[in-house]
Amino acid sequence: MVKRELILTNDGSSTIRINDLNENYHSGHGAIQEAMHVFIQNGLGSVSNSSGLPLRVFEMGLGTGLNALLSYQYAKENAIEIIYSGIEAYPVEKELYSKMNYIEKIGVDYEDFFHWMHDLKWGGHERYDDHFTLRKIHLDLEDLVPELSNYDLVYYDAFGPRAQSEMWEMDKLEKMFSLLKTNGKLITYCAQGQFKRNLKQIGFDVVALPGPPGKREMTVAIKL
Ligand SMILES: C[S@@+](CC[C@H](N)C(=O)[O-])C[C@H]1O[C@@H](n2cnc3c(N)ncnc32)[C@H](O)[C@@H]1O
Repeated sequence: MVKRELILTNDGSSTIRINDLNENYHSGHGAIQEAMHVFIQNGLGSVSNSSGLPLRVFEMGLGTGLNALLSYQYAKENAIEIIYSGIEAYPVEKELYSKMNYIEKIGVDYEDFFHWMHDLKWGGHERYDDHFTLRKIHLDLEDLVPELSNYDLVYYDAFGPRAQSEMWEMDKLEKMFSLLKTNGKLITYCAQGQFKRNLKQIGFDVVALPGPPGKREMTVAIKL
C-alpha cells in the first residue's frame, strides 16, 4: 500500500501527495484553483443545459471528491441537476479526507454534502437533492465495461503520464469515447502530445485551452 500524506497547495487548499510516485492529487499551484479552472469553468460551465435534462458526468478518479464537491456547488448555484458517476480503484481513507480543508475554503453550507458523499457506500447510487445524484464505482478502470453512451462530460483526472502512463493510452481513452454521447466532452488537465494524438486517432476533436496558473495548456476532447 503506498503512503499518502496531506499537503497544502499554493492557494491554501489541501491535497494528497504520494511520495513514492512523486505525484500529487492536484496541482501544487492550487488544488481548488486547478479543479475550478479545468473541470468546472472549462467543463461543466461549457455545456449547454438548454434541454433541461440532468447533465451526466463521469469522473475517472473520484479521489478526495473535490471535483464532485465543486460540481455540486455549481449545480446548486446554477439551479441545474447533475447525475454523477465516479470510479475509483484506491479510495481515500476517512482519516485523510476528514482532515482536508475544502469545506473551510468553499463554505460550511457544503459540509453535509461532503460527508454524505464520502459516507455513501461503494457501489451505492443515491440522490442527495434536486441538484445531485451520485454513483460510486469501486473498480480499476481496466475492468470497467462501458455501459450506454449517455454521458455529457468525462472528467479525466488520472495521475499524469509520467507516473501512470497506461492511463493515457488508447484502450482507456476508447472506453471514455464509448461512455460519451455525441458532442460529449472529455476534460483533463493533461496536454501531453502523445495523449492528444491518441485522442485524435480514436475520433475526438481535440482542443487546447489555456491551463490553470502554472500550466500552459489543458485539453478538451469532443466526441464527434
Ligand atoms: C490525480 S488523482 C485525482 C483524484 C480526484 N479527482 C480528486 O480530485 O481528488 C487520480 C485518482 O485516480 C485514481 N486511480 C488511479 N488509477 C486508477 C485506475 N486504474 N482506476 C481507477 N482509479 C484510479 C487514484 O486513486 C486517484 O484517486
